Amino acid sequence: MSYYERHIFFCLNERAPGEASCSQHGAEAAFAHCKQRVKAEGLAGPGGVRVNRAGCLDRCAGGPVAVVYPEAVWYTFVDASDIDEIVSSHLKGGQVVDRLVLAPEVGR
Ligand code: FES
Repeated sequence: MSYYERHIFFCLNERAPGEASCSQHGAEAAFAHCKQRVKAEGLAGPGGVRVNRAGCLDRCAGGPVAVVYPEAVWYTFVDASDIDEIVSSHLKGGQVVDRLVLAPEVGR
């Protein structure tokens, strides 16, 4: 039994102007929205879900990105409704949101 059932890490990395990074694509707002939704759903805490900040996850070309463990599913997203779906479907229900999964070849 792991301490958290699921753990989601959001890349919030910020690079110099002109360089691609998740922070330029709404990552901070998505992170904050996810934390709020996880709390509102009663999922936060031990035995539940942890939402964490992360630095560069080295998949910048697909940014903004987040990864969910223990399944190691990588997501990219556009807006708050995408985050809502990740929370309700995957973090709460264990079902991967296929339409938001980052293509496997996307790297830096
Ligand atoms: S800046 Fe987000 S993965 Fe690199």
